Amino acid sequence: MSNTYNIAVIPGDGTGPEVTKEGLKVLDAASRRFGFKLDYTHYDFGGEYYLRTAVALPESAIDDLRGHDAILLGAIGHPAVKPGILEKGILLRIRFELDQYINLRPIRLYPGVECPLKDKGPEHIDFVVVRENTEGLYVGGGAFLRKDTPHEVAIQESVNTRYGAERCIRFAFEYCRKRNRDRKLTLCGKTNVLTFAWDLWQRTFDAVTTEYPDITADYAHVDAITMWFVKNPEWFDVIVTDNMFGDIITDLGAMIQGGMGIAAGGNINPEGVSMFEPIGGSAPKYTGRNVINPLAAICAGGMLLEHTGEEDAAATIEKAVMEVTGKHLKSLAAGKMGYSTTEVGDLVADYVSKI
Ligand code: IPM
Ligand code: MN
Repeated sequence: MSNTYNIAVIPGDGTGPEVTKEGLKVLDAASRRFGFKLDYTHYDFGGEYYLRTAVALPESAIDDLRGHDAILLGAIGHPAVKPGILEKGILLRIRFELDQYINLRPIRLYPGVECPLKDKGPEHIDFVVVRENTEGLYVGGGAFLRKDTPHEVAIQESVNTRYGAERCIRFAFEYCRKRNRDRKLTLCGKTNVLTFAWDLWQRTFDAVTTEYPDITADYAHVDAITMWFVKNPEWFDVIVTDNMFGDIITDLGAMIQGGMGIAAGGNINPEGVSMFEPIGGSAPKYTGRNVINPLAAICAGGMLLEHTGEEDAAATIEKAVMEVTGKHLKSLAAGKMGYSTTEVGDLVADYVSKI
């Protein structure tokens, strides 16, 4: 009997629906080729839903999502909705309530993709960032004192727990072992200044390191790591870091792998329901023009399959994407690919069926 997976699909705002459609096209091609079934349930959460109902997510949403094997998200962000409402009300709420405590971001330069770094090619850029996804500054703790006076104080708290750091670090070690590339895990922190949070992270990292004698454990300050990403990206295999630093360094990572057109990520609960997404925004100015690059959403679909256990299908999607970047696309930028959004989806789906 073949496996069936129930996938919740949230196409979202702007170009989200266009790229999600191509992601599903490629997932369907993989399911035909590899003989598993995908059942989709679409949810229309996003800016339009919020403007219509004044709620970001209905009461039932989290429990509904919990009933699926995985979630595919397009993009969240609407020009008519104040920044923060949809991000907190949808994206962060799902991450927190489904306890998706890992944000997994592969940074890989595919063949044919123009890299902004001089003298760097696909052999130099192939690493993965494991970002803690439920703690730190993202918890949203803090306060104002004397608001709207000249003596106003704003406090923004970073919450770091031993439990949260440890499960993230452990995931990173396991991931590094399974990936089996350089077997090197770099902790990215700020132990020289943030001497509470990063002391806890460093001690936790050191303790867990003793359980993985086959992995080289390394450390880099976050500011230095932004420098090494540009100068020596080949130094990295797997990086583990907290929520805020992970947010920042993975945008830099996306740029060195060719930009938001290709950057995908997973919000992972290894024991629960995970959500996969292209990490770029909703790109309102390209909406409906069939010019946006769907590869990031396609790669997110590939990550989803890898996570559900369809590893051959996931590897085939990645290979198909490499065929398309290496042999077809002129650029990854919207409107400059030499192909439309739907044509890129067709190309990848076609390779998935035949390679
Ligand atoms: C990301 C995004 C989100 C984050 C925003 C949209 C809330 O930038 O997934 O990296 O900060 O985590
Ligand atoms: Mn971000």
